[in-house]
Amino acid sequence: SNNKSSVTSVSDTNKMDSHTISIYDQLMELLLKAINKAYPDVVDPPVIITLSNNSKFGDYQCNSAMPLSKLLASKGTKVSPRDVANKIVENIAESPIIEKLEIAGPGFINIFLKREFALNILMSLLKAGKVSPPSVKKQRIVVDFSSPNVAKEMHVGHLRSTIIGDSISRLLEYLGHDVLRLSHLGDWGTQFGMLIAHLQDKFPNYLVTSPPISDLQSFYKESKKRFDEDEAFKKRAYDCVVKLQSHEPDIMKAWHLICDVSRKEFEKIYERLDIKVIDRGESFYQKYMEQIIKELDEKNLLEEDEGRKIMWGDKKDVGIPLTIIKSDGGFTYDTSDMACIQHRINVEKSDWIIYVTDAGQSMHFQLIESCAKRAGILTDKQKLSHVPFGVVLGEDKKKFKTRSGDTIKLVELLDEGLNRALNKLKEKGRDKELTEEELNAAKEAIAYGCIKYADLSHNRNHEYIFSFDKMLDDKGNTAVYLLYTLTRIRSIARIANLTPEQIKAAVETTSISLEHEKEWKLAKVLLKFPDVLLKIMKDLYLHPLCEYCYEISCAFSEFYDNCYCVEKNKNGETIKVNMGRILLIEATAIIFEQCFDILGIKTVNRM
Ligand code: ARG
Repeated sequence: SNNKSSVTSVSDTNKMDSHTISIYDQLMELLLKAINKAYPDVVDPPVIITLSNNSKFGDYQCNSAMPLSKLLASKGTKVSPRDVANKIVENIAESPIIEKLEIAGPGFINIFLKREFALNILMSLLKAGKVSPPSVKKQRIVVDFSSPNVAKEMHVGHLRSTIIGDSISRLLEYLGHDVLRLSHLGDWGTQFGMLIAHLQDKFPNYLVTSPPISDLQSFYKESKKRFDEDEAFKKRAYDCVVKLQSHEPDIMKAWHLICDVSRKEFEKIYERLDIKVIDRGESFYQKYMEQIIKELDEKNLLEEDEGRKIMWGDKKDVGIPLTIIKSDGGFTYDTSDMACIQHRINVEKSDWIIYVTDAGQSMHFQLIESCAKRAGILTDKQKLSHVPFGVVLGEDKKKFKTRSGDTIKLVELLDEGLNRALNKLKEKGRDKELTEEELNAAKEAIAYGCIKYADLSHNRNHEYIFSFDKMLDDKGNTAVYLLYTLTRIRSIARIANLTPEQIKAAVETTSISLEHEKEWKLAKVLLKFPDVLLKIMKDLYLHPLCEYCYEISCAFSEFYDNCYCVEKNKNGETIKVNMGRILLIEATAIIFEQCFDILGIKTVNRM
């Protein structure tokens, strides 16, 4: 269980410059070595390290002594946890990270960090002008997210997938992974039969002139109505599906027309939210579907079931099988996902595939994983993760809808966000202080930032209540509050009349000040940055990053309220600048901004 070879050692100064150090990993390594030395007979000993929640009891704690004492007792050696703790402490090697160790209570080992270590890390960050990611093994990762359906509205569920998937991609890219962002569009299948048949009737010369179908929603509704009521139309719709699957040119042209309209709608949303994703929908896998069906058949993995062809996963206890071929010969969502996973592994060579969809699809991905393993497509060299999320509710706690009862149109939702953000700014009289350009930038940063942050700051497994009032509140853990903190941080250098060049020069001559209790507290929050990211990489929960941002904000405010940085006289002239503190603020800004970047939130200098 100890894959410590990839951990950067503090003593290795070369690596120390290029990567931010995980304190957690360092302490794990140190404590494991100490325990191995103290008790060489215990195999795989429990190494438990936590952040301590009261700085009186150190910054971190090692709680291994209690379980170790029990373990030893079960093997016939009676030693009290306190004695075990003592023995561990005696065996801990000299480390540049640790200031002192204390044993408390029944056998907790309290670990106090060394200021000098923190200073070195923060100074090298300032010299680089950026914060480097912790070092991880590089992987090829597919993030499957957003994935709306053509001709249907992109709804709030897709918005959640878009926001979460983008942030996961940003994090993995920052960590240095090779990330392929894919939107698995629903752009194939039976609904296109009726859409195309309807298009042929309504715009017979669609091959020469592009039809004006900007409102695909109503177009979809019209065709659905005919499909349900008119037998002859229904039959034609089915014919169209068959022709589409055999790529008949005229039908393909109609299909392209419809997809293009949808794509333009989706792109508007992506552009506004600054989302990068490649469209690679179900249609892309058509020829691979035929291929994989052949392979599954040859491996005898398909079963006949009332005219359908189905496939069971490893354990039948998932309860249902995949439907690989429908009784009418058509392919399904399942078929495309089996072809898709094979393509992502064999052609895209991915090590890790991440699917971001609503929790309702958990069973589907469990089945895909299980069947892909059974078919030998997915091996233990690759990893599959389904990242599920709960539904979005309105303030009435019912499924999120507009007053008229329709599902919310995303464009309208974003527009409302912009309006509300602007009103907020006007309430504060900011429209009189900012230039028009600044006001616009602030409005967008607030509106889109709030929508993203409200989503990301909640545990994604839970359903979440969409409330503009809550997300635009400037107190509490909201994007507005954080954006304000950042503008405050950035204003300090301005107040002190320092240019970026002057700050850069100061990095060479001045040391960050870490003497004051509040300075030291802020610095220790900053040092946690790599560990916050490494944890997210493991479980793909983003809300701890939001909590971390809030923690930075609070620690900064405490520091700023207690430590003067710029002193002015009665005439408003600067008489003293505490450069060590300005540098601490600078380091805070660098890490804070990196967090915003991972969350996909744009920042502003003034708002
Ligand atoms: N289009 C699907 C939906 O709207 C999501 C697709 C997710 N990705 C996948 N590979 N199945 O629910």
